[in-house]
Amino acid sequence: MARLEVIILAAGQGTRMRSESPKVLHRLAGQPLLAHVVDAAEALQPAAVHVVYGHGGDQVRTALEHRSLHWAEQAEQLGTGHAVAQALPAVDPEAAVLVLYGDVPLIAADTLRPLAAAAAAGDVAVLTALLDDATGYGRIVRDDAGRVLRIVEQKDANAEELALREINTGIMAMPARRLADWLTRISNDNAQGEYYLTDIIALARGDDIGVDAVVARDNDEILGINDRVQLAHLERVYQSRAAERLMRAGVTLRDPARFDLRGELACGRDVIIDPNVIIEGTVRLGDRVRIGANCVLRDVVIGDDVTVEPMSVIEQAELAQGCQIGPFARIRPGTVLDRGAKVGNFVEVKKSHIGAGSKVNHLSYIGDTEMGTDVNIGAGTITCNYDGANKHRTVIGDGAFIGSDTQLVAPVSVGAGATVGAGSTITKDAPAEELTLSRSRQQTIGGWKRPAKKK
Ligand code: UD1
Ligand code: CA
Repeated sequence: MARLEVIILAAGQGTRMRSESPKVLHRLAGQPLLAHVVDAAEALQPAAVHVVYGHGGDQVRTALEHRSLHWAEQAEQLGTGHAVAQALPAVDPEAAVLVLYGDVPLIAADTLRPLAAAAAAGDVAVLTALLDDATGYGRIVRDDAGRVLRIVEQKDANAEELALREINTGIMAMPARRLADWLTRISNDNAQGEYYLTDIIALARGDDIGVDAVVARDNDEILGINDRVQLAHLERVYQSRAAERLMRAGVTLRDPARFDLRGELACGRDVIIDPNVIIEGTVRLGDRVRIGANCVLRDVVIGDDVTVEPMSVIEQAELAQGCQIGPFARIRPGTVLDRGAKVGNFVEVKKSHIGAGSKVNHLSYIGDTEMGTDVNIGAGTITCNYDGANKHRTVIGDGAFIGSDTQLVAPVSVGAGATVGAGSTITKDAPAEELTLSRSRQQTIGGWKRPAKKK
């Protein structure tokens, strides 16, 4: 098969987004629209992917700098034909070219394969769609034998052409050498004063080159985004597909309409996810994991039989088998919980290791801490890890018991089996197996009277 190169058009401003950022950087399922299109292109294993950028060019390039792309600037948006011409000098003349749009994010690689194949065989291929309302789109004009003759834009069409329901999705493929020739022959003598890529169809017919129209099977896949209403629509399409895929793979989604996947989710068996859960980045859930309502999980690995109660936020953490989290827990990056650990309500844990069976059940902050096994942290305990300039570590040995409302002023360590009395401020190491407390002695003043208001 001939070498394939993809050109993605992404120079349009997207005025109707009414936004400071370029349209193709608006996010769908957590990724810029353009990144979805690049993914579809890369699935075809092309020799190169070119992006034609214009508005907000620096932002677009920065947002996709980790992708391997060739960039072509289109300083003025003079039409789709002009846009393609900006990338073409960098394309191998022997290649087959596939043109995609940066604002058509749900296009699937499988839909594109027949177009790429047709171009590799020397033909032109156009992805078309049948719409009940074709307003705004270029129409596909066919002859009596059903062969594609040309594409006419809405603004240039006569009444008969406007009645046609087969539209140009804009996605096309063709041999690069032919394309280069045709682009020198198109003009901007039309209703919009633009260089239309679509004009190459009639030129191809004139040169006796075959034009294949591939009709899209799924009309959501070919939808472009021009405003935030369309963005929201395609987000829901994406999410309902993701939810369906997960359910078919054996995941229970209590309400698939209230589930958002912004990344990759891998699940074991019999995972149950309650409404309004957001999954971001790369998330792995073991067997029988239950995620309560309104949780956000970002880049986490969760072992078997873990329960995450509602309203918990977990980011860049590893939770081993049988942990119990929340409700209202916040687990921040760099946290590792061993088997059966418990992090309860209104507890924040950051960059800490919590040993097997240890419990931090209520209203605590644990940061930069190394905690052993079977530790009990009383309500309201705080590791004071920050002195205003530097972060310091707290070490708590196996089986330690920290009384409620304790401040552990780091760097500090509490030995194995130690007990810290409630209400203590611990600034020096607490020895193993001993009771340590720092607390002013309780006293009772006999006969003391509360001041009374003057009458
Ligand atoms: C284009 C097609 C039309 C098709 C429709 C599908 C042409 C002449 N018309 O129309 O047949 O039905 O798409 O949505 O091709 N772009 C650039 N630079 C430019 C112009 C456009 O990069 O100078 C990019 C835009 O960012 C966008 C895409 O090309 O991603 C399509 O541009 P748009 O202006 O939306 O094309 P339409 O006029 O809608
Ligand atoms: Ca358009």
